[in-house]
Amino acid sequence: MDSLNSLIDKLEATSHLTKDEWIALIEHRDEESAWYLFEKARKWQHRYFGNRIYTRGLIEFTNYCKNDCYYCGIRRSNQKAERYRLTKEQIMECCQSGYDLGFRTFVLQGGEDGWFSQEKLEEIVLEIRKNYRDCAITLSLGERSKESYQRLFHAGADRYLLRHETADPRHYQSLHPEELSSENRKQCLWNLKEIGYQTGTGFMVGSPGQTPAQLAEDLLFIRRLEPQMVGIGPFVPHHDTPFAKEKGGTVELTLFMTGLLRVMLPSLLLPATTALGTIDPTGREQGILAGANVVMPNLSPVSVRKKYELYDNKICTGDEAAECRSCLNRRMESIGYQLVIDRGDYSSQGAAAGNERSKDKCMM
Ligand code: SAM
Ligand code: FES
Repeated sequence: MDSLNSLIDKLEATSHLTKDEWIALIEHRDEESAWYLFEKARKWQHRYFGNRIYTRGLIEFTNYCKNDCYYCGIRRSNQKAERYRLTKEQIMECCQSGYDLGFRTFVLQGGEDGWFSQEKLEEIVLEIRKNYRDCAITLSLGERSKESYQRLFHAGADRYLLRHETADPRHYQSLHPEELSSENRKQCLWNLKEIGYQTGTGFMVGSPGQTPAQLAEDLLFIRRLEPQMVGIGPFVPHHDTPFAKEKGGTVELTLFMTGLLRVMLPSLLLPATTALGTIDPTGREQGILAGANVVMPNLSPVSVRKKYELYDNKICTGDEAAECRSCLNRRMESIGYQLVIDRGDYSSQGAAAGNERSKDKCMM
């Protein structure tokens, strides 16, 4: 449809759409507009990153969680989840094998597990920083106080991932118990940015009750926040959660949202997520062709991988595994891209890009 393409043109030219324009684009998207969008997304992806795909080694170090998000397989009420925690030594071993495999960013992700006190977390970050000076340390530990974020930054962490999940407070409340709020989640993100972290947010596509209006809110929020990274993946039901019987998100809508994000903020770090690779064996390749530029293979010890089950059938072996970096590289090469050994810092990419969009202050 011509009007859809002209909205995509407007997005490309200004990196702004109104809420109604976002809704129209998402609601009426079709195959033709998706192709038009992905072509533009790849154009910007190539201008900023060439055919380079950044890798992050994901260490899922605890699946204990004090929260009870209705969608999540490791929520505290799931009595069937087999819980585990990695020791500091195990985490360091993951980093060493990751480093040997060519990873220069480690992502420490876990449930909100009070056993890992502030002091313990700082010790882990300090130890990684001391041993791997050339690597970036990304944390994904959920909601914490500003002081805690500040201290972890001081210890050597550079980046933090915290998806806002959905920008609409009422929708947020329908996905979470009362003690969690959209307002606090967003405040955490503003705090992280203020401290100086390279900050990542994101949301699930197709979470129960989600409408185009809520996706529009997500894009408007991301435009305001100007994060350095955005992780989006389809919602995938988990059989032992209140959302076991809900419908999952689709590859098609996830790809469309990926393309919109790339055209809106061309220098974003945008992962082709595990959830996308879980619902479609070629999901990550399709994600890259829609504008994504990061993959995050699993570096956790093989013995615990299946236990970090956020949703059903989450992939954790084969090309998803960090040991299979060369298989993943072959898959990327088959679509014209290559994995790089590089921290893949946001600022250096922006500086290297040099094109007309970089004059816009939001891009840097
Ligand atoms: N505790 C940290 C936090 O809250 O950010 C990190 C772990 S949390 C489990 C990581 C992300 O997994 C969440 O932000 C959520 O978007 C995603 N996730 C959880 N359950 C999911 C599901 N059923 N389908 C797809 N993604 C899911
Ligand atoms: Fe752990 Fe949601 S259940 S963060």
